[in-house]
Amino acid sequence: MKVFVVGGGGREDVLAWKLAYDSAAPVVFCAPGNAGTRRYATNLPVAADDIDGLVAWACAERPDLTVVGPEAPLCAGLVDRLEAEGLRVFGPSGEAAQLEGSKVFSKEIMAAAGVPTAECRHFDEIVAAEAYIREVGAPIVIKAEGLAAGKGVTVCLDLDAALTAAREALVDNAFGTAGARILVEEFMEGEEASVLALVDGEHVVMLPGSQDHKRALDNDQGPNTGGMGAYSPAPVIGSEDLPVIRDTVIEPVLAEMRSRGIPYKGVLYAGLMFTPEGIRVLEFNCRFGDPEVQAVLRRLAGDLLPVLDACVDGDLTDAQVSWSDEASACVVMASGGYPGAYDKGKPIDGIETAEQSEGVVVFHAGTDVDSGGQVVTAGGRVLNVTATGVDLEQAVERAYGAVDKISFEGAHWRRDIAARALSRITA
Ligand code: AMP
Ligand code: GLY
Repeated sequence: MKVFVVGGGGREDVLAWKLAYDSAAPVVFCAPGNAGTRRYATNLPVAADDIDGLVAWACAERPDLTVVGPEAPLCAGLVDRLEAEGLRVFGPSGEAAQLEGSKVFSKEIMAAAGVPTAECRHFDEIVAAEAYIREVGAPIVIKAEGLAAGKGVTVCLDLDAALTAAREALVDNAFGTAGARILVEEFMEGEEASVLALVDGEHVVMLPGSQDHKRALDNDQGPNTGGMGAYSPAPVIGSEDLPVIRDTVIEPVLAEMRSRGIPYKGVLYAGLMFTPEGIRVLEFNCRFGDPEVQAVLRRLAGDLLPVLDACVDGDLTDAQVSWSDEASACVVMASGGYPGAYDKGKPIDGIETAEQSEGVVVFHAGTDVDSGGQVVTAGGRVLNVTATGVDLEQAVERAYGAVDKISFEGAHWRRDIAARALSRITA
């Protein structure tokens, strides 16, 4: 049996790892993969956004299942292309992926489905945008409408910052066509958490909640990043909240999509804000969150492959999904300078030693192997050091113990992953 994983970051390394050790023992291929995936999969020299290249490989090799990790190929319609060739694919169609690819579409679906979210208006033109921003006042949030590699959102605490952000997108083309339209959104106060739901077009399996850490520095300071760490479960999501999120957020959106003839299958990611007025949606993504899924999948008790198969085959109702009672934590080790400019090619030491520690698995994100066989840095987020433990405290302690054994020039990481949850638990 052949499984094909598209992508080459930390999310794809944890997916390849979980699939490769499945009891069905499939042969796993990754395009392009990284130095981590090559431990249990064959890496292919095809970029994750090379749609024609990916289709050509899949048509020749006929994988039994393809799992598409990143948003770019999903929004570009890779799933449609592969399905047109008769292949089985986990992931939404290009049209359904517009839930992430177009923030205006996403807001329209939420409004039609009655899903609680921030008030917002969208603009193509700076004069009207400025007038509206002045009318609402700060704090306020400016978002590029399209995919902007996680950089399109500016949370503005004063009016000047908001006017500047709007101008950068609409006039200076800072995000290219992705920012040719902006959303001006109400600022929501609260604590964030992420929920992932597996969907077969109709049925839903909720995965345990998790929390990401989006800012680069401790205490949520510094610039936004793709995510500097995660943990699961997230105590901000109470045991009574997951069914409520399923009934008031996930199911209504899926029903609205179905009613428009755009059934959604794959994984639906809801970024949520727990506000004093209740749970409200920040955004939807059409893929597994990264690094959330690294933390979440460490807690999956059984195999992943049958669950993904059930999503593809539309019979998720029968899928057995059980979760370990253990907690998990993931610390992202990043290149010096990230999320700004950074060097590549720095040798990484200590991964194997770190992995000898109890409960620890180190996933690779931006890594490569140089001509001498040395694992080197090749991206902004370099490693995802994960650990499980009997409780969150132990998982965090183990993850940081493992981080201390790994080194590369310029490495930086947050020292407060899960600190908020730990103080909540202590309280
Ligand atoms: P997004 O890419 O939409 O997840 O936004 C990136 C980050 O900006 C989120 O994780 C939040 O921390 C923040 N953010 C986005 N929208 C809002 C909002 N309406 N109110 C407050 N913070 C927001
Ligand atoms: N960690 C945030 C995301 O995957 O969008």
